[in-house]
Amino acid sequence: MREQIIILDFGSQYTQVIARRIRECSVYCVILPFSTSMDELKALQPNGIILSGGPSSVYAPKAPLPQTGLFELGIPILGLCYGLQLIGQFMGGKVEAGTKREYGKGSLNIKDESCPLFRNLPATLQVWNSHGDKMTAMPKGFKTVAVTENSNFAAIEHRAKKIYGLQFHPEVAHTPLGREIIANFVHGICGCGKNWTMRHYVEQACEEIRAQVGDEKVILGLSGGVDSSVAAALLHKAIGDQLTCIFVNNGLLRAKEEDVVRQVFGRNFKIKLQYVDATALFLKKLKGVVDPERKRKVIGGTFIEVFQKAAQKIGKAKYLAQGTLYPDVIESVPIAGNPAAMIKSHHNVGGLPKKMKLKLVEPLKCLFKDEVRQLGIELGLPKEIVHRQPFPGPGLAVRILGAVDKGRLKILRDADWIVVEEMKLNDWYYKIWQSFAVLLPVRSVGVMGDERTYEYTIALRLVESQDGMTADWVKLPYELLEKMSNRIINEVKGVNRVCLDISSKPPATIEWE
Ligand code: XMP
Repeated sequence: MREQIIILDFGSQYTQVIARRIRECSVYCVILPFSTSMDELKALQPNGIILSGGPSSVYAPKAPLPQTGLFELGIPILGLCYGLQLIGQFMGGKVEAGTKREYGKGSLNIKDESCPLFRNLPATLQVWNSHGDKMTAMPKGFKTVAVTENSNFAAIEHRAKKIYGLQFHPEVAHTPLGREIIANFVHGICGCGKNWTMRHYVEQACEEIRAQVGDEKVILGLSGGVDSSVAAALLHKAIGDQLTCIFVNNGLLRAKEEDVVRQVFGRNFKIKLQYVDATALFLKKLKGVVDPERKRKVIGGTFIEVFQKAAQKIGKAKYLAQGTLYPDVIESVPIAGNPAAMIKSHHNVGGLPKKMKLKLVEPLKCLFKDEVRQLGIELGLPKEIVHRQPFPGPGLAVRILGAVDKGRLKILRDADWIVVEEMKLNDWYYKIWQSFAVLLPVRSVGVMGDERTYEYTIALRLVESQDGMTADWVKLPYELLEKMSNRIINEVKGVNRVCLDISSKPPATIEWE
């Protein structure tokens, strides 16, 4: 059994952050719903269990509570915030509504330096709080190991039972030494080694893939994005020529995109690559389509059609590989007030496996995005692929407001190329979430030489984001904006004006359609 920590999710917006921190300790972990049965937990034989925070009160009628027996499993437990209050509630202490909500920075004073959670840490730490309820009486057998200005029970322990609780959030960046506390729990208290590394993962994933697919054929839709590219490289390592990648050129790609994909995968990696140029078909179907949702539907539907046809040519494949990531498969706990529960589903083409009666292979489904990037590097993919900015499935079509045609695609592609080139030249491209051009269906008057012009407008969209769910516009240096604007107006035929999009998400979205 591999070493692992289980996080029981009680609806905290930070649950995935806890998982990130544990994996940064090179320890594997999984997130499970708070209601997971004791039988399931026991079967997984975790080295430790972390109880996440959550927006509820432990004494509220519909509070999410763990199954009985959790605290008698004999497995080390760390409760964070709501998790600490659960320990209080379940083990005979008392939790009550605080007189005021404690929110923000606090100062933690460690009272018992022998506590293994605080091993090698200073006696005073900055911590971050976010809670309304408070533990007011400690359960039997527990003792306080650290206090804050507002709480006598900021950190508690039952050392013999290896049960620990923290009122603050060690997982967030505002608790600067929080990582060390988590490391002390997973290594020191749970006894986990540092076994979760990408090299180790590659070996293990290859074995799993081979065991799953045997000598059957696998197909994969390669888009050139990070996830499908890394999945392709991993599968190729595991099963070589049993894998065929299908790369559909929908005519909505960025400049040079098809060359990069064919070069990297076809020529360098020698992956079996079926390239389908379906530009004409996509443009025909998109003719006159203006409504954004309709555009997405037309593109999604056409993609399935083209992909299916290409797959038939490959012959009997039993499996379809997809680059699904861990955040896509975690079931968010549907608790009122949990922002994670409201995250919209991704707009990618679903339904393929069902339609094609294929079984799924998803070799990235226990990884976070940054782990996928590390894996890509481990597998020898170039930085250009591994660290590229996200690009939507419907491609440039959702960045051309109004109807899509060859002429407008050329204008946008040329303008976009300049944006990407300048961002890379000036070391900005890899620092931000996305930087691209949008073609507006607005023409305005300008003057070039002695001539009056009446041409299109390009908007620059440059955003910073953690996960695409919220975003802020990037304050690029004026000189760089000026360079992009000058180059676009001078070099791209059909454009005489460039604007900067300074809207955040929400309420705007990142893409314009
Ligand atoms: P929005 O426009 O919703 O975009 O703020 C959030 C993030 O998702 C990307 N995006 C897509 N990605 N298929 C994708 O794979 C899509 O259809 C799609 N639409 C938007 C967008 O680029 C941004 O990073």
